[in-house]
Amino acid sequence: MVTVAVVGVGPISEQHLEFLAHHNRKSNQIELVGVCDLVSASVNYAASKYGCRGFKSLDEMLTTVSPDVVHILTPPNTHVALARQCLEAGSNVICEKPIAPDATKAQELIDLAQAKGLFITESHNYKFNEEIVELTESSTRGDLGEICEVEVRMALDMAESRFADQNMPNPIHDMPAGVIHDFITHLTYLVTTVAPGSDFRVTDANWRNVSDIPGFEWDNLSVELFCEKTKTIGRIRFDARTYPDEFTVTVRGTEASAVNNIFSPGVTVTKLRMGKQLSPLLNGIAGGIGGVSSNAKDLVNKVKRKTPYHGLAVMLEQTYSAIQAGAPLPVSDSDILSTAKLVDEMVALQTKGKA
Ligand SMILES: NC(=O)c1ccc[n+]([C@@H]2O[C@H](COP(=O)([O-])OP(=O)(O)OC[C@H]3O[C@@H](n4cnc5c(N)ncnc54)[C@H](O)[C@@H]3O)[C@@H](O)[C@H]2O)c1
Repeated sequence: MVTVAVVGVGPISEQHLEFLAHHNRKSNQIELVGVCDLVSASVNYAASKYGCRGFKSLDEMLTTVSPDVVHILTPPNTHVALARQCLEAGSNVICEKPIAPDATKAQELIDLAQAKGLFITESHNYKFNEEIVELTESSTRGDLGEICEVEVRMALDMAESRFADQNMPNPIHDMPAGVIHDFITHLTYLVTTVAPGSDFRVTDANWRNVSDIPGFEWDNLSVELFCEKTKTIGRIRFDARTYPDEFTVTVRGTEASAVNNIFSPGVTVTKLRMGKQLSPLLNGIAGGIGGVSSNAKDLVNKVKRKTPYHGLAVMLEQTYSAIQAGAPLPVSDSDILSTAKLVDEMVALQTKGKA
């Protein structure tokens, strides 16, 4: 039996707590022993819904129930201090992204965990979404030919979001990438995930402020990455103004391209060529068939109530199975560090291109 506690009962905690409740019912190998939040109403709600003890401080929770594992689900600026506190108290850590504001601090947490004989891991949940797994397998098998370009694009209309609320300034704005830091971990590991075998370096990053959203230092990002060995180009695009919301992962190869919109699951694969000749008509037909099949999948997913977060349960399932088997975790130290180092490379180019 592994005892588990949760700190931070905000929106994402529902995904973690549902997994923990479900897993407990299924296997009886995980016991949720406590939840903790600064807001009493949130603690009381979660404690009564999930049948565990509620605490107003992490310190009190750690000393009272000594959990084997703590899920840290608080805002990003709090992660380093809370993770350190959990590790010092002897608890393993599953932390929401980003684990730390930069790679140096991420490395310090990993070193501390190792020194204590514990683990710390970070949510890279979209990597475990069924469609991203499918896309990654297609790339690895060579279904798309040689991978020439991968692009991860996120568009969110954020002017009315909680990040723009002037009455309650959001601490995300103090992170190195500002509001983009809430998403940049996902955008970065997705580029490296769907282009297996590529070792990317950041070659350019344009950080811009092109909107008047109060409090936002950066609201638009365009990054180019390159792998010298495979000659693959990676691109990350973020925009806080455009509508509709989009979170697409596109892989373009020498034989075909594939795209998945994480907000609306279903993978569209387009086979482009007849011999060496480009045929607009055949491309149109192939694109149409891909679109219809993707929409059909999307409908099935909606009926099954599969959400963009479905990979989170898979990641946690694999994490707990690995803990119990003493096997390597699905999101390793090197996954965390290589992602954080790429983000550092992007942040280092920040003054360039400021609009
Ligand atoms: N993996 C994903 O797909 C995904 C999706 C959404 C959010 N997130 C991440 O999850 C984390 C939480 O985001 P959110 O949107 O669920 O919630 P949030 O940021 O709104 O806040 C989470 C909760 O933490 C509590 N809190 C803050 N400091 C605390 C402290 N010191 N001790 C105890 N409680 C504290 C707050 O009161 C709040 O209830 C963030 O890191 C975010 O980036 C991840």
